[in-house]
Amino acid sequence: MAKSKAEQTPEESRRVATTDDIEVSTYLEIAKEIGGEQPGASQEAVSGAEREAIIVLDFGSQYSLLIARRVREFQVYCELLPHDTPWEKIAPLNPKGFILSGGPASVYESGAPMAAPYIYESGLPILGICYGMQVITKQLGGEVAPGMKREYGHAILHMNDTKSPLFAGLPDATPVWMSHGDRIESLPPGFTNPAYTENSPYAVISNGKNIFGLQFHPEVVHTAEGKTLLKNFVSRICGCKGNWTMGNFVNNSIDRIKEQVGGGKVINALSGGVDSSVVATLIHQAIGDQLTCIFVNNGLLRRDEAERTLAVFKDHMGMNIIYVNATDRFLTRLKGVTDPERKRKIIGEEFIKVFEEEANKIGKVDFLAQGTLYPDVIESISSVSKASAKIKSHHNVGGLPARMTLSLLEPLRHLFKDEVRQVGLKLGLTEDMVWRQPFPGPGLAIRIIGEVTREKLEILRAADWIFMNEIKKAKLYRQLWQSFAVLTDVKSVGVMGDYRTYGYLVAIRAVTSDDAMTADWARLPYDLLARVSNRIVNEVAAVNRVVYDITSKPPSTIEWE
Ligand code: XMP
Repeated sequence: MAKSKAEQTPEESRRVATTDDIEVSTYLEIAKEIGGEQPGASQEAVSGAEREAIIVLDFGSQYSLLIARRVREFQVYCELLPHDTPWEKIAPLNPKGFILSGGPASVYESGAPMAAPYIYESGLPILGICYGMQVITKQLGGEVAPGMKREYGHAILHMNDTKSPLFAGLPDATPVWMSHGDRIESLPPGFTNPAYTENSPYAVISNGKNIFGLQFHPEVVHTAEGKTLLKNFVSRICGCKGNWTMGNFVNNSIDRIKEQVGGGKVINALSGGVDSSVVATLIHQAIGDQLTCIFVNNGLLRRDEAERTLAVFKDHMGMNIIYVNATDRFLTRLKGVTDPERKRKIIGEEFIKVFEEEANKIGKVDFLAQGTLYPDVIESISSVSKASAKIKSHHNVGGLPARMTLSLLEPLRHLFKDEVRQVGLKLGLTEDMVWRQPFPGPGLAIRIIGEVTREKLEILRAADWIFMNEIKKAKLYRQLWQSFAVLTDVKSVGVMGDYRTYGYLVAIRAVTSDDAMTADWARLPYDLLARVSNRIVNEVAAVNRVVYDITSKPPSTIEWE
């Protein structure tokens, strides 16, 4: 039986999920091996005397990153770090408080991960969530035991102590989301339970000063007042002012890039995607012409894409851009290729070759700029990560020659995607540009089933253009994670006027998703579907039938190949 995606090892996995461009990311990963910055605590994310941070110590919960994301919403800088991160790495961030995340372990088992002593010795506020709360209980002298049954789902939290600063602005009873097996048997000395649920007498614990534990998950949306609880901890208990704004970020980043690059030269692979656009614009504002962007047109872009990208970055912003129309090279290499993974490999290889050739023409370059985001950094810390999958699936494609000893410049590596969008807007990019749907690096090649030819590319571009145009007119573009057309290799009989036709079947696909790991097919209005179908068969001569893809991911993937 075929393995599910989740069971596949990175080597076996055909697909690599990335948001913008796989080729560019691959390039980054290979460069990273040559000696780029390694993931870990940032020392410079927020600069100056104003620097303040909340540190989430990760005990392995699936929600850990979400906690960091939530704290950032309060304009407080937050980093997720492994639970055993040494104090020397944390101190420079000027921590104002710690959050101990949930995790899959049980504190009473031998070898269960614990919090480092400095966390308690620092005197800083601590919030333990689920496993994190049990860690606090165990380490401060209480007792945790296996629960009789797992508690999972909604519970109602009732307050014993409505005056606790953690509960400011909260009603006396509120729904919370539980997910735990172990339970607290006895509290550490000096602790009380300011709130409880029916099944968890110690749903909230506190030492009455600045140490708190929550048995439930405040970071998930099912905990109605979760944001208020976290905000109370961050603002009222840790005293954070909330100076992590994207305006400050832009100013600090510009200073830092100037300092880091000095008189050096930077190259960047521009794709027109959100991350590469923001990174290019930010670096350009910092160092102007010391940045050269290389924009490779692989011939697999959507209609007008190359022209639009050039118009914005070259003509409007005046960036130094090397535009390479490598369509012929890519299409020659794709001739006769039908296997999706072969297509991906060829496109990845060719991209790197073109990029290297162009970079070598520039002369000595010092930095490779890259739009790595915070979730990528976090992922690359874990052993089976997307990043390692990327490296592995592209390892044999060459990579950076050793003579190009580039350092990485990754100014967005501490940001979440929505923060990147805000930075883009601050830098003057348009709403259209910062809200672009993801587009796969191999482009239309994986939306043409079977061999990629010029003729098919033109047919797909025309159909895709109509679909996107109608989606935008219906003001649905932003609500959809992705919407696009696929040119199948099916031909079917039709009738137009007095003639029978024999034309291509085009599929249209629109999905909603948060992260591309799962996706649901979008319930587009019938009228919109009818308009799109009519227009495609009327305006694209080679197409006589349109179908709408109504499968979700899983079991399907978003792309057809
Ligand atoms: P699937 O089709 O696996 O896609 O559900 C998940 C997300 O990843 C994008 N995707 C790719 N992006 N190179 C990319 O840069 C690729 O080879 C690739 N394959 C899929 C896809 O568009 C969706 O956003």
